[in-house]
Amino acid sequence: MDSVKVALLGFGTVGEGVYDTIHSHQKRLQALLGKKVEIVGVLVRDQNKKRKIHSETLVTSNMDRILEIPDLDVVIEAIVGIEPGYTYLKKAMETGCHVITANKELLAHKGKELREYAEQYSVRLEFEAAVAGGIPAIGTFKQLLKVNRISKIEAILNGTSNYILSDIASNQKNFDQALASAQEKGYAEANPDNDIDGWDALFKLTILSDLLYGIQPEWEKMVHIGIRNLALEHIEFAQALGMKIKHVASIELIEGEARLSVEPVMVGQDHPLYGVDGVNNALAITGDLVGQILLQGPGAGALPTASAIIEDFVNLFQTEAQTKVQQDVTLAPSLSDEMQEWV
Ligand code: NAP
Ligand code: HSE
Repeated sequence: MDSVKVALLGFGTVGEGVYDTIHSHQKRLQALLGKKVEIVGVLVRDQNKKRKIHSETLVTSNMDRILEIPDLDVVIEAIVGIEPGYTYLKKAMETGCHVITANKELLAHKGKELREYAEQYSVRLEFEAAVAGGIPAIGTFKQLLKVNRISKIEAILNGTSNYILSDIASNQKNFDQALASAQEKGYAEANPDNDIDGWDALFKLTILSDLLYGIQPEWEKMVHIGIRNLALEHIEFAQALGMKIKHVASIELIEGEARLSVEPVMVGQDHPLYGVDGVNNALAITGDLVGQILLQGPGAGALPTASAIIEDFVNLFQTEAQTKVQQDVTLAPSLSDEMQEWV
């Protein structure tokens, strides 16, 4: 049977989650795409580390070896920082591969260039996992934008910060204990400063401002404050007033200009983000036709992120897949059956 050949760049929390999901959901993917999905290569920094990867898969730290794989269809990137991801994704597009990335730092800085590259080489660039983890935020915006003018977004876009604030509030932990717990669960970035200083949320916000309004970031104009200096006493102060502190990322159209900010805000019970706790992210979106809608769900972690990446992956073949999705509803085994088979 014909197959779709995939290479993973990165095998950390996200890469491994995608690898496991492609295997655990192989039957479902095959039913959707009419083809087997084969992970033919995995790029890592340290190729000597022990990993749960089938022996026939190429594991290498040399990107050229990945690009030499014949008939490679899709490259999924989940490494950290602007480089080497930027160079690798451009090379992959040059060879005719579609690319999917979870890397918000890369997209926030080089999204426009990558889009132009994808157009030049007639391939797709998809990035659902880069904003709000498992929430289908990008897909929802693409739908909404067909008919709505979006005038405001208030969001929680960093799972680590929200987890830390919730953990301190609920379990009276200190900041370092809560951060360590977020790291242990695979929510935090390799350098957690990006999470707790608000950079990660700002990267996601700039990806949205580019998607919504075609506005590239003017970094120095954006308000940008993290949660590093918050402690139990600040959170208890808010609680005493019946409020919570949330790390709010917002875009608002004011007098024809989009204002972007990321900062801790005290919110009351009537605020749409008040009840969003733990690793969850949420987006309160105001559109001229729809009014306000709230999207909420896990903003980080292996499986929610894999879910977003696999959505992108399936969408690459969407035209082929659409009718088969409908057939699959009654035929597919339950998710837990598939997971058990894989385990
Ligand atoms: P991670 O656990 O730190 O894994 C990073 C992976 O990239 C590792 O396998 C590492 O190789 C590999 N790598 C790093 N530098 C490399 C290089 N120069 N060449 C080749 N491989 C390299 O990170 P992660 O949490 O999976 O996140 C990956 C990306 O997804 C990041 O851009 C992150 O912002 C984004 N993201 C993360 C989440 C999440 O919940 N964690 C959610 C959405 C998006 P070794 O294994 O050999 O060290
Ligand atoms: N470190 C990020 C977060 C991962 O905590 O939200 C998901 O993008």
